[in-house]
Amino acid sequence: MNIETRLFSDDDKDIEAAAEILRKGGLVAFPTETVYGLGGNALSSTSSEHIYSAKGRPSDNPLIVHIADTASVYELATEVPETAKVLMEAFWPGPLTIILPKKEIVPDTTTGGLATVAIRMPSHPAALKLIKMSGVYIAAPSANTSGRPSPTTAQHVMEDLNGRIEAVIDGGPVGIGIESTIVDLTGDKPTILRPGYITKKMLEELIGEVEIDPTLIRPDPNIRPKAPGMKYTHYSPSGELSIVEKNSDSDNKEDNTFDSDTAVADKINELYNKRKSEGYIVKILVPQEHAHLYNTEDVIIVGSVTDGITVAARLYSALRECDDMDAAYIYSESFMDYELGGAIMNRLLKAAGHRVIYV
Ligand code: TXA
Ligand code: MG
Repeated sequence: MNIETRLFSDDDKDIEAAAEILRKGGLVAFPTETVYGLGGNALSSTSSEHIYSAKGRPSDNPLIVHIADTASVYELATEVPETAKVLMEAFWPGPLTIILPKKEIVPDTTTGGLATVAIRMPSHPAALKLIKMSGVYIAAPSANTSGRPSPTTAQHVMEDLNGRIEAVIDGGPVGIGIESTIVDLTGDKPTILRPGYITKKMLEELIGEVEIDPTLIRPDPNIRPKAPGMKYTHYSPSGELSIVEKNSDSDNKEDNTFDSDTAVADKINELYNKRKSEGYIVKILVPQEHAHLYNTEDVIIVGSVTDGITVAARLYSALRECDDMDAAYIYSESFMDYELGGAIMNRLLKAAGHRVIYV
């Protein structure tokens, strides 16, 4: 496929043009509050097939269906349990995806052959307008080429998908920067399949105990993750990314403040110097407060220690910058102890192929 990809603004006229493309079965990337999505008509198997091929994505990896009003859930799902109603009421529109048993009208192509469907109501105004104006439910994975970091700007989308989709709506940089929390409500207990901005605690305050898919914490090659997408390598820059983390066993808990600890910085500097001396391009990912610990211009700032939300917002663009600068080796501090640390490290660990160096 090689078509001209139009860059649209997020004004009503352009969103209407994008809506028309969707109605005709074409593909349009659009901003959401989490990451940019690659949208097509969710009820058309042809559109879903085009999404898989534009992304280069395996077709057993199901798509999320985006809706703009709660009533749509009842069109797509056979059963809507009380827990779903509570969560929809509390977090929609917003960065939460729920899994429910699917109705016949949702094609198997959209759900990767599963009997369930992932549904989310995004809060980004351009996304909501596009869904409403088009009159279609929009199947949308993240608008990156499969395996690359998810796009947080329209330019990222163009880097990956220019020539492969009809249009991109430019709504500026997204707010959250990592994908929605996914909760499966089809089993005995609500289960988080992908961590995100909506945390386990936030869910439990409303619906009681929530499980976490065990493969999210310690990936085991013998257990399949329940969200098929979580089994693929993902979010990866081209260079070799390693995370350098303080060994929690040797931790003196009293002394576990971010600023007093330079052991991680010492290790990263050592690794950096070695690779530099071998002639490689090397980049270092750290929060702004730690930049002074590294005496080099190869530091890429990823948010602030005082606010994990700023780290989430910067993570994917920082990984893409490493690619732009042809980094062969990338060393990152760990963000585990930060707000949203679990969701951030879920992505960073995958990007690093779980390469962690403990100090
Ligand atoms: O924030 C987001 O969710 C973004 C924006 C664009 O809305 N979308 C997104 O889509 O991240 P994608 O396709 O990159 O990730 C969807 C994840 C995949 O891991 C997929 O396996 C899982 O959701 N998923 C989709 N349908 C599912 C289902 N029926 N059961 C289990 N997992 C499902
Ligand atoms: Mg994705």
